[in-house]
Amino acid sequence: MSGMSDPLDVGRLRADTAGSSHVAHLNNAGAALPPSVVTEAVVGFLRLEERMGGYEAYARLADDFAAVYGSIATLVGCRPDQVALVESATEGWSRAFQAIAFTRPLGPGSRILVSSAEYASNVLPVLQVAARSGARLEFIPDDEHGCVDVESLVRTLDDDVAIVAITHCPSQNGLVNDVASIGAALRGHPAWYLVDACQSVGQLPVDAPSIGADFLSATGRKWLRGPRGTGFLYASDHALDALEPFPIDMQSATWTPGGYELQPGARRYEYFEKSYAAILGLGSAIDYALDCGIETLAGRIAQLAARARTDLSSVDGVRVHDRGVERSGIVTFTREAVAAADLVRAITALGINVSLTSPATARHDFEAHGLEGMVRASPHAYNSEDEIDALVRAVAESMP
Ligand SMILES: Cc1ncc(COP(=O)(O)O)c(C=O)c1O
Repeated sequence: MSGMSDPLDVGRLRADTAGSSHVAHLNNAGAALPPSVVTEAVVGFLRLEERMGGYEAYARLADDFAAVYGSIATLVGCRPDQVALVESATEGWSRAFQAIAFTRPLGPGSRILVSSAEYASNVLPVLQVAARSGARLEFIPDDEHGCVDVESLVRTLDDDVAIVAITHCPSQNGLVNDVASIGAALRGHPAWYLVDACQSVGQLPVDAPSIGADFLSATGRKWLRGPRGTGFLYASDHALDALEPFPIDMQSATWTPGGYELQPGARRYEYFEKSYAAILGLGSAIDYALDCGIETLAGRIAQLAARARTDLSSVDGVRVHDRGVERSGIVTFTREAVAAADLVRAITALGINVSLTSPATARHDFEAHGLEGMVRASPHAYNSEDEIDALVRAVAESMP
């Protein structure tokens, strides 16, 4: 594929994205429109399975599957053997959490610190473990910008802190947590550092080792523009040496005459059965993004999101809720006297996809800011300025 980076050819991005001629898709934080190479990779492999059998098709394209690990490694700055393919960000995060709880059981003294805007699916298992074991869930206070306050975190660290879990870019706010500074603050501390990069991978440069993450989880269908049902987990060498995933299967480990032997590297975090077609689609999506240049994509996404925030803020009664110093491509807003769900309905009726974000995704964050529901618009690099302008018009014309 010929390089597309800097300057970004938005016309070509749109031509590569069949859906962009049907809908103004500003829901990339939900699931993005894929470029056609992704759909072709998935359908092509399904056709091969249809013709020759699933296992046989896999064997024929074994090198292509191996290359997917290489693409992910390039994307997040690690080695291919530090990558596990999973079905979602949640599965990746959960497998990491299970490994920690299995290897060093969490008890009444254990503290689990999470960001105040942490995603619900990362908090719920902690609540479960806390209810049964007496471990404590604690939300790290925000700083004056509404991001994780690194100094508060450092002040509260002690040997009882077993896990620090941070969502890099929350689902329900445009803020970007400074995960690298948090990683630096945790260096030398025994706590396991879990970074949820579900909303950052693909839209921002993410380098897992330099963040200092023990684990980093991501999904395929959002900013990477891959198929649904794909994701990956990065595991640091320290995590691979010290932790054991639970439960294991015949992919994560081998049943030996004396017991079992874990797979080398992060493959021990994978199960045997997966959608292999979707994995090839994920590989194509990542290669496409790398070809565009992640920095270049990030710049374009930031421009579109900034345009949306500025122009929405000038509409009567509209409040943009995004916090932070650095911002992601997630734009959240409400309009006075219009319920967020009604606003979403009015916007989508005009062929503009946005989503409703509600306390179910991050209850602590919503309650801390007295919010009930917000509209979320999340432009990707293939969106046009005209689509942002159409969103702003739709909001302005919605009836209070
Ligand atoms: C911040 C964040 N983390 C995790 C997830 C879960 O991702 P998945 O549905 O791929 O498990 C989401 C999904 O929206 C998210 O926004």
